[in-house]
Amino acid sequence: MIERIGRLRREAEAAVEAAPDSAALEAARVRFLGRRAELPNLLRGVAELAPAQRGPVGRAANEARRALEARIEARGAELQAGELDRRLARDRVDVTLPGDPLRPVGRLHLLTVTRREIEDVFLGLGFRIAEGPEAELVHYNFDALNHAPTHPARLRSDSFYLDDEIVLRTHTSPMQVRAMEAQPPPLYVIVPGRVFRRDSDATHTPQFHQVEGLAIDQDVTLADLKGTLEAFARAIFGPQREIRLRPHFFPFTEPSVEVDVSCFNCVRGLTADGTRCPLCKGTAWIEILGAGMVHPNVLAGIGSGAYDPERVQGFAFGMGIERIAMLRHAVPDLRLLLEGDVRFSEQFG
Ligand code: PHE
Repeated sequence: MIERIGRLRREAEAAVEAAPDSAALEAARVRFLGRRAELPNLLRGVAELAPAQRGPVGRAANEARRALEARIEARGAELQAGELDRRLARDRVDVTLPGDPLRPVGRLHLLTVTRREIEDVFLGLGFRIAEGPEAELVHYNFDALNHAPTHPARLRSDSFYLDDEIVLRTHTSPMQVRAMEAQPPPLYVIVPGRVFRRDSDATHTPQFHQVEGLAIDQDVTLADLKGTLEAFARAIFGPQREIRLRPHFFPFTEPSVEVDVSCFNCVRGLTADGTRCPLCKGTAWIEILGAGMVHPNVLAGIGSGAYDPERVQGFAFGMGIERIAMLRHAVPDLRLLLEGDVRFSEQFG
């Protein structure tokens, strides 16, 4: 009998050790310790044995059962740990992987697309790109740009002041001065960036974007300005475009001009069906930017003295990116640029 118990115990232990998973272990437990298993039956039958056998058989069977229970518990813990590890490995979520199904990628905003196109044109013409602060010293935004003390843009009602000396830049022109201070001529630079004005209506937002341009060298003339802007207009609006310069006023350029591009939506102000062109309002010309020859006062004010207006001169221009984008793509409402609707962005870039 004792021998039989010993064999059962070894057999059971071998089955427990060999169990590959929790289910197999449970099956082994039922087989060796379950209600109908041999070992428990033996224990239950101890009372019917001859008195001399009861003690040793009972002890051996009990010991075998306890040992087996302990084995099963240990093996169970082992299996569970392994199963957990496997499940963790299988279920691991790599949050850096793309979603499934793949989310549609977004598009570049029309303003980004347009800014990059403008940048590409001027990079191709030998300009480099610089950026400047949006919170700007009044000195750079107005004083160094030859603004009269009474210039209306200086008013608190027109511009956003952070304190008496700092204003949210009203244009990208202050970077003309900063760029000249940073290096001697020749200088060919464009400056894209955000600008701020206290304007808000159907065609104006308090924040918008400009690209400034500045070219300083020896013997730069208004003809160079015109040629440069004509190349720009043709690159952006089509090779058939002409430009014209109209006299204007800016404090920091002299002479100053406004630049128009010939309308690309009509012929002499009339659309194909003979009606007045809505884009140029029948004038055949569309205003695209302000420009001029850099004012001698601005050049002379550069502290290094490297921009002596008797030795170097140059031109500057500034355009609104929103305006260029809206003209170019016939965007009917400035607010479409601000809504963040992907159906809008999807049409460009
Ligand atoms: N800074 C001017 C504006 O915002 C544009 C401009 C730039 C004009 C450079 C002349 C030269 O209206």
